[in-house]
Amino acid sequence: MKVPFIDFTEQHNTIKSNIAVNLEEIYKRGDFVLGKAAREFEDEFAKYCDVKYGVGVNSGTDALYLAVSALDINVGDEVIIPPFTFIATALCISYAGATPVFVDIEDETYNLDPKKLKKAITKNTKAILPVHLYGQSANMDEINEIAKEYGIPVIEDAAQAHGATYKGKKIGSLGQVACFSFYPTKGLGAYGDGGMVVTNNKDIYEKVKMLRDYGREGRYEHKVKGYNSRLDTIQAAILSLKLKHLDTWNKMRADNAEYYAQCLKGVKEILTPIAKKDRQHVYQTYAIRVKNRDFVCAEMQKRGVDVLIHYPIPVHLQEAYSELKHKKGDFGVSESLCADVLSLPMFPHIKKEQIEFVCDNLKELVKK
Ligand SMILES: Cc1ncc(COP(=O)(O)O)c(C=O)c1O
Repeated sequence: MKVPFIDFTEQHNTIKSNIAVNLEEIYKRGDFVLGKAAREFEDEFAKYCDVKYGVGVNSGTDALYLAVSALDINVGDEVIIPPFTFIATALCISYAGATPVFVDIEDETYNLDPKKLKKAITKNTKAILPVHLYGQSANMDEINEIAKEYGIPVIEDAAQAHGATYKGKKIGSLGQVACFSFYPTKGLGAYGDGGMVVTNNKDIYEKVKMLRDYGREGRYEHKVKGYNSRLDTIQAAILSLKLKHLDTWNKMRADNAEYYAQCLKGVKEILTPIAKKDRQHVYQTYAIRVKNRDFVCAEMQKRGVDVLIHYPIPVHLQEAYSELKHKKGDFGVSESLCADVLSLPMFPHIKKEQIEFVCDNLKELVKK
């Protein structure tokens, strides 16, 4: 048996007849950029996140960068992030000329540890940027409490957590501004790149809207040096169709995660994800921890199971950030995860037999 890491077939089959109709309409209108479907999807997705405003952009990375820019973060400023994340969380800060400051993660949720946060705050700290890694919310009450105490805004990196909740509240509504990615493999994925900034803050909304469209206000007036970072109308139309199924697909992911946990129960060499009771985890990634990870990873591939590592190197030890002069041991929890974490195939329509095949092979390999 072969088990792909992700298989989009069933999701595509669910929406494909409607895609054809919607594309025909876009073609007839000719509004390929910032068209009707793009504006509609911005409203739909903002509503889905329980916030007032959404601005569609080119990617999750751009969403983060434009959010950082809208907060006027600049050279000499610092933004706090976890080191155990995709590098885009840090890059958006560097693009603005500011410096990412790392705070280690919690051992259970793999998200920014609020207990270590205060020590990292300085007079230059201009934002806290927690990541809802793998689809589970960070500990937002504690993070927000500290942010409020110091008067620092919170930017959510929600690139992996479409539809997840924290104490009944939607991800995307928990900070001053939140950033989503619609990269194809995300819980809500486009057929290409895409992203969105969502917020309740009118000022941030207006700034991001201007920044993503050449800094334009009106057609010919350019207030600031903006960018070309807009969500294509065609991608928005596809995302809009997929959004209708997102809750169902997230539920299927959660059921799959439960089945994985059931199949791997009692295997002491494997640690399955810990989902906190006060959050709804959407399992964009299903990552286990296993001591002989590199061996297991290579063997699983040989046996036809597509597995990946999110992430083998923490951001503070990436060559791209060598100027920060971090060394091994600086953020021990993140580093230990990088050594033993392994992402298993996960998508809504994965079959029980496929999960069983993955688990049977895993159980054998972790003993070696
Ligand atoms: C945590 C995180 N932040 C940011 C991004 C960047 O998103 P994009 O690939 O759409 O630029 C990603 C995904 O790739 C991500 O996983």
